[in-house]
Amino acid sequence: MIDKNQLFVEKYRPKALNELVLESNTKEMLEKFLQDGGIPHLLLAGNVGCGKTTIAKILLKELDCDSITLNASDERGIDTVRNKIKQFAMMSSFKKWKIVLLDEADAMCLTGDTEIVVGSLNNLSLRRLSGLKNGRKIMIPSVNIETKKVENDIGCLVDSGMVKFYEVELEDGRKIRASSKHPFFTNDFVEVKVCDLKVGDSIIDVSEDFFKKCPDVECHPNVKMKLIKIKSIKKLGIERAYNISMEKNHNFILGNGILTHNTIDAQFVLRNLMETYAGHTRFILTCNYLNKIIEPIRSRCQLIEFNNLQRKRICVILCYIFEKEKIKYDLDEVLLLIDMYYPDIRSMVNTIQLYTFASVWALRNVKSFRNFEQLLNLIKKGDLKNIRELDLDYTESYKYLFDNVDEITENYDKRVALSLEIAEFLYRDTFIADKGINFAACCLKIIEKLKE
Ligand SMILES: Nc1ncnc2c1ncn2[C@@H]1O[C@H](COP(=O)(O)OP(=O)(O)OP(=O)(O)O)[C@@H](O)[C@H]1O
Ligand SMILES: [Mg+2]
Repeated sequence: MIDKNQLFVEKYRPKALNELVLESNTKEMLEKFLQDGGIPHLLLAGNVGCGKTTIAKILLKELDCDSITLNASDERGIDTVRNKIKQFAMMSSFKKWKIVLLDEADAMCLTGDTEIVVGSLNNLSLRRLSGLKNGRKIMIPSVNIETKKVENDIGCLVDSGMVKFYEVELEDGRKIRASSKHPFFTNDFVEVKVCDLKVGDSIIDVSEDFFKKCPDVECHPNVKMKLIKIKSIKKLGIERAYNISMEKNHNFILGNGILTHNTIDAQFVLRNLMETYAGHTRFILTCNYLNKIIEPIRSRCQLIEFNNLQRKRICVILCYIFEKEKIKYDLDEVLLLIDMYYPDIRSMVNTIQLYTFASVWALRNVKSFRNFEQLLNLIKKGDLKNIRELDLDYTESYKYLFDNVDEITENYDKRVALSLEIAEFLYRDTFIADKGINFAACCLKIIEKLKE
């Protein structure tokens, strides 16, 4: 297993302000905080992998402070968060400040069409998240992790703004759409976020025992911890996001029987605590989507918004790693890497590590990546003639189109239809005589479908 400290993203996470590559106004603001020896409440907002957590950690290290770090998805619930922060804020200390870092304040959510189990144990039904009223409490069953039993519980919907989604497909074809930091439960109720789940991992599925008895369950049905394997995980587009904040146990059950973590809705707790302990306590919140942070918190914090770093500045960060690691690299490939993941620096750094063999870095499939990008553009333009000129590996191209169908169209129904078509053409590819014609026919089909 890889030691976390050997990961380049950790090894090269800047440890001091002067190691950070930042826009000059942001850097000056941070320098001023360190000169003054204090910060206001801060809200750090920006794209994935742009340095928010890194900056928060540097502030905690450089300021004269005690600190605790909470992660929206790791914590056990509102009361735990409230008590933890209260205890921390009241604890005596010789330091000038106490700082609470709430990393990923906006982390977890599901799509509006996700169905969940609602009602009391003797009268259960399924409801779509988008059909629930924001902030209104209703009965939603949950699982008591100690006793492994389903219990009556209360929850309420939290509208979580617009978010990029992933689709997790299970072995038996069931699908779940969730944000990258939304956690599911793996063996023994260990929570794992979508971005850390891998194909082949298993998550808790209560459908068998629970739904067979449904709707006649009168007393607490035992939850058998059946696990189900993940078949695929793929990126989708941006959609409106929701989650449930539960009162007793911190989970709820999706309509398809998968157990999932609730949100702690920590923002509502913070709102009051920020004022109560404002004397010596400061809060730093990080988030990807500013529109998911409630207004009362935004107005209490100084906002630092991270614009995407210019490509040439990211190039400096990446080349520094190559030089330090004495890895041979090609500048053209570095620029391509930046294009591939822009503006997510974390993914770029991870890719450097992934493709380094014997101190040489080779971005595999560079040629195909360029061609694939062209292919997507030509499909969108409906230009079949030039598609036929491209030098493509057909099998890889079907896979690429399948994985990137959300780049072709934003319409969900069309994406589903296109995915099915691509799968069908890929299947034919294995036994057809002229693979080029089969691929051209596939592209033509996609172009026609886009016009519908
Ligand atoms: N401004 C920067 N200067 C130098 N390195 C950076 C910078 N931003 C990001 N990195 C690199 O990217 C990695 C990830 O950054 P970080 O974890 O701070 O991102 P983040 O903004 O918190 O992302 P997320 O929204 O996913 O939590 C760091 O370990 C570092 O290697
Ligand atoms: Mg972070």
